[in-house]
Amino acid sequence: MTDINLSQSVVSRKSEPLKGFPLIPGDKSISHRSIMLGALAIGETIVSGLLEGEDVLCTAMAMRAMGAKVVQGDDGLWRINGVGVGGLHEPDQVLDMGNSGTSTRLLMGLVGGHNITATFTGDASLVKRPMKRVVTPLEMMGAEFMCRSGGRLPLTVKGAQDALPIEYKLPVASAQVKSAVMLAGLNAAGRTTVIESKPTRDCTENMLQHFGVEVNTEELEDGAFAISLNGHQELHGCAIDVPRDPSSAAFPTVAALIVEGSEITMSNVGINPRRDGVFVTLKEMGADIRYENERLEAGEPVATIKVTGNNVMKGINVPEERVPSMIDEFPILAVAASCAEGTTRMTGLRELRVKESDRLLMMANGLKACGVNLEMGEDSLTIHGTGKPPKGGARVETALDHRIAMSFLVLGCATEEPVEIDDATPIKTSFPDFTDLMNDLGADIGASE
Ligand code: S3P
Repeated sequence: MTDINLSQSVVSRKSEPLKGFPLIPGDKSISHRSIMLGALAIGETIVSGLLEGEDVLCTAMAMRAMGAKVVQGDDGLWRINGVGVGGLHEPDQVLDMGNSGTSTRLLMGLVGGHNITATFTGDASLVKRPMKRVVTPLEMMGAEFMCRSGGRLPLTVKGAQDALPIEYKLPVASAQVKSAVMLAGLNAAGRTTVIESKPTRDCTENMLQHFGVEVNTEELEDGAFAISLNGHQELHGCAIDVPRDPSSAAFPTVAALIVEGSEITMSNVGINPRRDGVFVTLKEMGADIRYENERLEAGEPVATIKVTGNNVMKGINVPEERVPSMIDEFPILAVAASCAEGTTRMTGLRELRVKESDRLLMMANGLKACGVNLEMGEDSLTIHGTGKPPKGGARVETALDHRIAMSFLVLGCATEEPVEIDDATPIKTSFPDFTDLMNDLGADIGASE
């Protein structure tokens, strides 16, 4: 095997049983918010376990450009000294957010609520992604935008002089849009309310409270949630121990499930019910996944997750209401479904078409090339598994999407013939040590010859 450099095509060959105690990287959503909220707080925020992936480093760069002190210590801790709500500086340069939709959309909210102007751009994937969903509510709050057609990057936000509080019903289930409005609302005079009919990840609400902000979540009669906060509350620097990312844990989990005889144990993984839909689904398919030592760490539920790969998973219909709690995990679930026995139906997946890539299309193309029998609809994917891994033996396009790249490298752990991906670079955005971690468990992932 040649040394892996994550800038080349990479191949995954049939693996020995995977065994070990992999250390999953820090939660990406919580890492972004640790830096953003730390940058808005008064006093010092000390973060341990921060994900040092490219996406989060983009957030750190942007918050420095807006006046916060964001320092990565030799001791592995990050120290952030904030500027206070209302105190963000106008960045001198265009903010290049790389591949990171979360950084861009949340920061559009922060800038939109401040009397400053900033310009955002990004890589070939990010400049294709829709930003109108964030532009619309922020315009209601008084921000002005100049963007490319379809509300795409590069985009300039002129923040509101005096941000207006609004009540906003989310037209799409999106934690990023919810968070952008709440972050803008922090600097608005009055009460900002976001109503979501499907519960999305609640890390912004939880973390704001950890920083001392009063946030109110109310369940309405129709089952929707109204999340409100009053503007001009002070955030206080605090200590944050970032849980390990369930979305990242899902990759070694599925690898262990599809390679017979595997047994892996991952500690301190976040199991917030608004994030752990993939584990619930895999368990319903018959997977042996156990939560042990369940507890709360700084308000977030975490557990040790034990995965044993000695059973055959069965296809199921994935309930549509579960989609928001596993929105990032459909690529890797599709890999599990390809090795399961029977049909797995996944519906309500329209949002997958506007992620880092069109994930429905990229998964359908790649899986078909690996010999999987499937049907793709406008917002659905149906996979007919045989109870055995497909044959593999394909080179798959990843379209600057870290989760597509990792999903196919996981599939290659179980297929008879190797699976190759054309570009492993995007893996650095969320899981820089992915290939080393997998190989330490027993996988055979290396640079293509
Ligand atoms: C995220 C929200 C989700 C998710 C993304 C991270 C967040 O995006 O896909 O990876 O940290 O708020 P949407 O809000 O577009 O669903």
